[in-house]
Amino acid sequence: MKVGFTQKTIAKNLNRSADAQPDAWEIKVLTRFDQQRAQGADPAKMEYSEVVEHGGQATFRYMKAIAIGEGQPCLHCHGTKLNEDVKQRLGELYPHDKAIGYKVGQVRGAFSFKKHL
Ligand code: HEC
Repeated sequence: MKVGFTQKTIAKNLNRSADAQPDAWEIKVLTRFDQQRAQGADPAKMEYSEVVEHGGQATFRYMKAIAIGEGQPCLHCHGTKLNEDVKQRLGELYPHDKAIGYKVGQVRGAFSFKKHL
């Protein structure tokens, strides 16, 4: 079924899933989120939208940052000190895993939404 919009979860460099590869527009917005973060902005409030033209087709695009918050379980699987079982399982499932070594407060990635107008 064709639903007219797509949605995915992405991250810039430190991906786990191969499906999480951002496109050029998404890289631009992720870079913007990283810059805002460096200036002290709260990742939980970061979002960005724009109507872009592609081949004469107007598309609405929206992204919302996914932050690693205090007290959330994210670092059990994306942090620096992983439990041995988790480490082993991730190694089996994602041999090219780069989504580790994150710290609390970082922008882990973003939710990305796209709809042709
Ligand atoms: C139990 C382990 C586990 C926990 C806890 C966890 N993740 Fe993940 N995360 C994964 C796995 C596995 C994937 C790859 C999923 C796939 O194959 O699509 C992933 C993928 C992602 C992605 C997509 C980009 C990429 O690297 O593939 C983001 C963004 C993400 N996680 C953010 C978070 C955040 C934020 C939290 C905490 C709120 C969190 N995760 C908690 C295991 C975990």
